[in-house]
Amino acid sequence: MPHHKDALNSINKTSSIAEKLKALHKATQQHHPFISRISVALYDTNTDLLKTFIYSGDEKTPLSNYQAKLSEIDSLKNIIDASEPRVINDLTVLNGKPKTHSSAVLDAGYKSSYTMPMIFNDHFFGFVFFNSFEKNVFNEHVMIELDMISHMITLLIFNERANIRTLLATVKSALNMTHSRDPETASHLERMSRYTRLIARELASKYDFDDQYIEHIYLFAPLHDLGKIKVPDRILLKPDKLTNEEFTVMKDHPTDGKELIESLMENYGLSGIGYVSMLENIAQYHHEYVDGSGYPEGLSGEDIPIEARIVTVADVFDALTSERPYKKAWSNEEAYTKLKEMSGIQFDPQCVEALLKNKDEIEAIQRTFMENDYG
Ligand code: C2E
Ligand code: SIN
Ligand code: SIN
Ligand code: FE
Ligand code: FE
Repeated sequence: MPHHKDALNSINKTSSIAEKLKALHKATQQHHPFISRISVALYDTNTDLLKTFIYSGDEKTPLSNYQAKLSEIDSLKNIIDASEPRVINDLTVLNGKPKTHSSAVLDAGYKSSYTMPMIFNDHFFGFVFFNSFEKNVFNEHVMIELDMISHMITLLIFNERANIRTLLATVKSALNMTHSRDPETASHLERMSRYTRLIARELASKYDFDDQYIEHIYLFAPLHDLGKIKVPDRILLKPDKLTNEEFTVMKDHPTDGKELIESLMENYGLSGIGYVSMLENIAQYHHEYVDGSGYPEGLSGEDIPIEARIVTVADVFDALTSERPYKKAWSNEEAYTKLKEMSGIQFDPQCVEALLKNKDEIEAIQRTFMENDYG
């Protein structure tokens, strides 16, 4: 029997989607070593935004945390309109044209590109980009193989997104069932998840957060208080200060939340989805203090996972500036002062600074997601 090792073996493993892309890339390079980079950008129909998502390549990606309106990128829009891939066998023809995302790719030294739209069930949801440092490498033979690779990437990503959607839908319906009694409104979750994204973006270069990290922390932040489902009404809805005994019960919500997530993952067969630990950390550690005086574990400083330190600042800022059954809404100025006062005690100073740098964006988020009768 001839010996053959399955080049795509690692696709079957429960690895992150980025690792799967790397495996596909490696397999592609066995035939076509000149394919130096594969990158995926996702499209959001609601906002018309195309956002970088994942990439594989030895070099640092020229485009990270990048987004643009698709309707304003003619060259990419044409790909969808014509429903055909696009090959540019000499990117240097773009030299001298006004600065665009394409020039970022060119500046990084890539000389040619092949771009496939990702379409599934007639639904367009992004692009796969193949780049080479050499010119004129995308011939018919190569492109046929890349088409297959690109369809595999499409399926992998669609599957991953479907899993996350299932998870979020499940959690959302769980939250809705309890929503009538929950003083935390839907707009609180809209705002705090956007504050979370602001902070993560601001810290991206320091912590090497990639686009996926930022997308996931934004998706998962609204689930931080999932465990409050288990808190009895008499405590959750109490219009006054909690007694010590009541606060002790309340303090179970981070661990309860983490355990709920674990069982959801098992029951829905979702344990393969990437970033599960990020979600668990957010639920479990969003009430830790950097000085070690928080709960449930009393972790301090960098022992608290960074995703939890980020969500804490976003959550408390919105809790302070919102009305609760037990308190009035504070003004932004009062809340900023509190964040600064508790910086280094309750909060990671870098996370506070990252949020406070973006007051204009905070106010824009507040205007967009005001409290209304529907909460
Ligand atoms: P929450 O209302 O979502 O508040 C989240 C966190 O924001 C609080 O975590 C706290 O760190 C901060 N925060 C909220 N309001 C204030 C405030 O008026 N002053 C200050 N300094 N910080 C504030 P914490 O304290 O661990 O509370 C966790 C959850 O316990 C709260 O979530 C809320 O559901 C409940 N809770 C806390 N205190 C009371 C209370 O006095 N009465 C009632 N009914 N619930 C409370
Ligand atoms: C884009 O063109 O918008 C993204 C390109 C890339 O990641 O190569
Ligand atoms: C482009 O998106 O217009 C070219 C850059 C690339 O193919 O990644
Ligand atoms: Fe909480
Ligand atoms: Fe909250």
